[in-house]
Amino acid sequence: MNYENYIELYEAVYLFYRFNKSVGRKLPKLLSPDEIISSGVDDSIYHALLKILVVNKLLKHDGVSFKMTQGNQKKIQHILENIIKKDPHKQYTIFYDKAINASHYFFDQISESEYDVYSRCDFDVTFNIGKIVAKHLDLANQKVLELGGNSGGLGTALVLENENCHYTIVDTKIPCKVGNEFKQLNDVNLTFAVDNIFELMLPIERNDYIVLMNILHDFDDESCLSILQNCIKHSDKNTKFLIIEDVLTSSFEPKNLIMHGLRLSVECRGGRQRTSDELTQLFSNIDYGFESTVKIDSIHSMMVMGAL
Ligand SMILES: C[S@@+](CC[C@H](N)C(=O)[O-])C[C@H]1O[C@@H](n2cnc3c(N)ncnc32)[C@H](O)[C@@H]1O
Repeated sequence: MNYENYIELYEAVYLFYRFNKSVGRKLPKLLSPDEIISSGVDDSIYHALLKILVVNKLLKHDGVSFKMTQGNQKKIQHILENIIKKDPHKQYTIFYDKAINASHYFFDQISESEYDVYSRCDFDVTFNIGKIVAKHLDLANQKVLELGGNSGGLGTALVLENENCHYTIVDTKIPCKVGNEFKQLNDVNLTFAVDNIFELMLPIERNDYIVLMNILHDFDDESCLSILQNCIKHSDKNTKFLIIEDVLTSSFEPKNLIMHGLRLSVECRGGRQRTSDELTQLFSNIDYGFESTVKIDSIHSMMVMGAL
């Protein structure tokens, strides 16, 4: 077996092993919901790792419950031995420590200079996504509000392609500062607002579109609803929500996205990937429903939600 290039799989196996150990159990027994809680992780982390085991055929799911065969167990033991031998930097231990840290949220843990670097790198990535998104939308003369838009790569691409598009980006202090530098450099008309997406203090104005790119997957359902309730104040029945993120097609599909789910849930405690049905269910709480979806690239899909 060649296990050289599957770090995300190794992380899942290692976490599974540690969680079982922490509740005094041995593989292949699976943890009950109570045991999950007592192991210090949360439901989203535990299920993200089980999904990785399933899509890599290290655990069976029969549609209802998870089962581990002797073959699965042998492969897991083999991977564990390889991982333990090849972990000189204790990267799996560090990952596990993050997973059991109940307050871990990536953006609260990084330093100001790391936040600055992140925001500079994020611009190009989101600008390139924006160039594809722009092909699917007509935002000319439209008013757009993007929450958590970081340094504005997506917004810049959309504004450059759409005349008279009024685009506001809400984020924290450092991304907005970096975003204003890019704004000058690219000579685009964007507004950056330093604000909290959970308690928007922006002047209340309706928008034609509200954009959330890679935001909802950072948070649990309760926090997502709190963000959406804030958005409602800035919308009316004609407002469309654009959700751009790694939307799953079903619980175990597609595999390339499932592989990223555990890191996401560990880096953002409570965060999790959702299927399009789960996102639709989330939006039903604010009386919005699914209208259409577009595949943007190998990771991102864009879901359009409209008032019911
Ligand atoms: C996962 S990043 C997504 C950034 C960008 N939309 C993208 O797709 O690359 C989450 C963004 O939300 C911002 N953010 C997190 N919590 C926030 C809060 N409470 N208020 C405002 N912005 C927040 C972060 O600064 C970051 O820019």
